[in-house]
Amino acid sequence: MSKSLVAKHAQGKSEQDEIFAVSHAAQAKAKIVGKENIVNASIGAFLDPQGNLITLPTVAQTLAGLPFEDTAAYAPIAGLPGFIETAINVTFQEYKPDAYLAGIATPGGTGAIHHAIWNYTNEGDTYLTTDWFWGPYRTMAREMLRNLDTFPTFDEQGNFNLQACLEKVKNLSQVQQNVLLIINSPAHNPTGYSLTYEEWEQLVEGLKGLAENQENNFILFVDIAYLDFAPPGSRKFFRLFSNLPANLLVIVGFSMSKGYTMYGYRSGCMIGISSDKDVIAEFYNVNQYSNRATWSNGTRSAMRCLEELGKNPELMARVNQEREEYRLSLEQRAKTFLEEANTVGLEVCPYHAGFFITVPTVKAKEIALKLQEENLFIVPLKRGLRIAICAIPAEKIKGMATKIKKAKDELGG
Ligand SMILES: Cc1ncc(COP(=O)(O)O)c(C=O)c1O
Repeated sequence: MSKSLVAKHAQGKSEQDEIFAVSHAAQAKAKIVGKENIVNASIGAFLDPQGNLITLPTVAQTLAGLPFEDTAAYAPIAGLPGFIETAINVTFQEYKPDAYLAGIATPGGTGAIHHAIWNYTNEGDTYLTTDWFWGPYRTMAREMLRNLDTFPTFDEQGNFNLQACLEKVKNLSQVQQNVLLIINSPAHNPTGYSLTYEEWEQLVEGLKGLAENQENNFILFVDIAYLDFAPPGSRKFFRLFSNLPANLLVIVGFSMSKGYTMYGYRSGCMIGISSDKDVIAEFYNVNQYSNRATWSNGTRSAMRCLEELGKNPELMARVNQEREEYRLSLEQRAKTFLEEANTVGLEVCPYHAGFFITVPTVKAKEIALKLQEENLFIVPLKRGLRIAICAIPAEKIKGMATKIKKAKDELGG
């Protein structure tokens, strides 16, 4: 083995960026066959038909209108109060839980997930999520000396596997005091699944039941990175977080990346929800402390931008209107793909909304490589193909499901 200088815990840390690799291959092929003949379904950002990043004009204008001496200054460690207030308001809208609430600004939803893992599990602990999950949940476990365990996302009917979820939570609670459960909904990455209101109801009831033992602490992290791309009415479940037992804390991870097209500005907010004033005071203190100890304060320009939008209902309405147009176009792209998949008999994970559709297969790598021969570039996951419908225009979606089905049949995956 070559020489290593890193500390013991850091040894062997390395990760291949699969998305970058696929995208790179797409660009290389574009030089040969022409960009217009390439379908690059690897990038997890909303792109226009020319492959450029779609941004919300009113967000761009609001940001551009801020004086540099304002945006260049430090933000408070916990975040600008006006930003936090707006983040809470836009997250819950009319479904604000009846509870104590506090927000801490973080660099995107990623920062919120980081702090939840760091401050609510112990070294060596395990935390839980669905078996289809966003890769960095595992990267963060390795980084923070924790473990990630999963349960089947779906039951046989393709609904959320509540039973498997609660069983895992219960089993873990028998060996660990704090149990952190991460649920990415609505518009889950990578499947596009959204828990129904009834599924949320049952999940919360199940967790309340487990919390009755008073010995454990349950922390439910709701990753809402794609909330704004779920249809209207998708926020109702937040009301279920009212009047929870004191040993059941909910943390919601708000992000400006997708909803406000501010991916690179690194802005988000972790919102704590508890019936107990002390639990929320502690939430505020420990996470503010972790901000100071990791990245200090967040990006002031992004916080100021949201604050300005929050102050001006007309501007915010414009942002929502602009985004809604894109959400509808995403819905159209999904419909095109799913209808064709259905016609040709291509199996897909249950999809409701969001940036990605997933085709389950044990031969993801082989199929993805084969599809590259046909100028179709898709990210292979361990157990499936993640199709970034957010990155491809409607006209290029036609024919994709057929090509994937053909490659899948040929390779027997
Ligand atoms: C499921 C999920 N959660 C959280 C994030 C966090 O994004 P950000 O840190 O940019 O807010 C992403 C981004 O891709 C995601 O896909």
